[in-house]
Amino acid sequence: MTDSAASAKPKTLVIPDAQTVTQVKHWTDRLFSFRVTRPATLRFRSGEFVMIGLMVEDEKTGKVKPLLRAYSIASPSWDEELEFYSIKVQDGPLTSRLQHIEPGDQIVLRPKPVGTLVHDALLPGKRIWFFATGTGFAPFASLLRDPQTYEDYDEVIITHTCREVGELQYGKELIDEIRNDEMLAELIGEGFHEKLRYYPTTTREESPKMGRITDLMRSGDVFADLGVPELTPETDRAMVCGNLAFNLEIKDMLEDYGLEEGANSDPKHYVVEKAFLD
Ligand code: A2P
Repeated sequence: MTDSAASAKPKTLVIPDAQTVTQVKHWTDRLFSFRVTRPATLRFRSGEFVMIGLMVEDEKTGKVKPLLRAYSIASPSWDEELEFYSIKVQDGPLTSRLQHIEPGDQIVLRPKPVGTLVHDALLPGKRIWFFATGTGFAPFASLLRDPQTYEDYDEVIITHTCREVGELQYGKELIDEIRNDEMLAELIGEGFHEKLRYYPTTTREESPKMGRITDLMRSGDVFADLGVPELTPETDRAMVCGNLAFNLEIKDMLEDYGLEEGANSDPKHYVVEKAFLD
């Protein structure tokens, strides 16, 4: 082969930790979910996150490097693929590009799951609250499909606050699937039907329940609507995942109810994680 023929050969970009996109679904102009192949060796606990991203050319150096962000795994640990739920930020370094992925494309996925929204970080309790805003629903999409969630608690309450009705759709379809899919029901186990409570609210578009979950807790609406008492450290456990302002506000409220923040190494009454924002 001549030198010129060798240099004309197209270069194959070797992507480290590559996984292949199998499915993409756009929910609104701000939200999409996607599924990718799962590395054979990847084990994770429901609620954990991994670093994922794309190979991107550095504007200054011209070098192609992985651009990664933390994404909660939305699929349950028994699923053969991995699912993620993402915001689209038009000028966001990663999501401005990631929103264009299609089945067959490759993404980078570092197979090192970590995170605090795990059952191990909580002491045993009677009722678990999952508090989500926006894409903060993702880790709960995993936990709600984990049999341990229903084994450990008598009641499982998921609240989801979004600006608009369309932004609730991903969560709503997942809850419908959990309630109606027999195969999924078999995998999750007996008894979850009576335990699972779903409390969606919107703040900027008319829906059956309007308002921020924090305000609805202060007014007592949530407790009256669900017919449960206010949270106490004796019976209630909580996991929180949403935008930063929400996390800080609800953390204060949980502390006021007497709940204490737990960790993997020191399980207590509640845990918090920030939803990914590009
Ligand atoms: P709001 O519309 O009143 O800001 P975002 O899409 O900006 O991440 O917000 C998702 C949801 O979280 C919105 O419904 C938003 O309500 C709500 N939210 C934002 N900040 C707080 C907070 N400090 N406490 C409770 N809910 C919040």
